[in-house]
Amino acid sequence: MPENKMTAVESKLASVMQKFVGKTGGLISALRQVQDQIGYLPQEAVSVGADAFNLSRAEVKGVISFYSDFHGAPKGRTVVRLCAAEACQAVGGRELQAGVEKKYALKMGETSASKDIALERVFCLGLCSCAPAAMVGDRLVGRADLERIATAVESHAEERK
Ligand code: FES
Repeated sequence: MPENKMTAVESKLASVMQKFVGKTGGLISALRQVQDQIGYLPQEAVSVGADAFNLSRAEVKGVISFYSDFHGAPKGRTVVRLCAAEACQAVGGRELQAGVEKKYALKMGETSASKDIALERVFCLGLCSCAPAAMVGDRLVGRADLERIATAVESHAEERK
C-alpha cells in the first residue's frame, strides 16, 4: 500500500512493523511491538502486516489467532494472569482465583470498566514448583497469594504512570 494512501493508524503501524522486516520471527515481534505500544492489535494490523511481510491477510490472521496473547480490543492496563493448570490448582489455585475475582470485582476474562485491570486464566506459566503461580503484566509471581498479587498490581500500575 503506498504510504500516502495510508490512514494515520496504518502509517503508525507500518513504521513500527518496518523495523522487523527481514528478521527471524519478524511478524510476531512486529505484532508484539504494536500491541505493547497501542495496547491491542487494531484490525489494520492485518493488512499492514501482510503488506510489510509480503504475506496474505489470511496468513497474518492465522498468526494472530494462533497466539492467545494477541488481542484485538483494548485490555486492562494491568493484566493479571492466574494459572489454572493442575499443579497450581492442587495448591490453592481455585481459592486464589476466587479471592482475586472478589478483590477486583471481576470474573476471569473480564476487564474493569476503567480499563485499569483485566483478569485472565492461563495454563501453566512454567512456575509449577512455586505454585500457585500468576503473572502480573510481564512479571511472574510465584507462591502467589492475594497480598503478593495486590503488591504486583500496584507496582505495575506505578511503573506505567
Ligand atoms: S501448573 Fe501453574 S505454573 Fe505450571
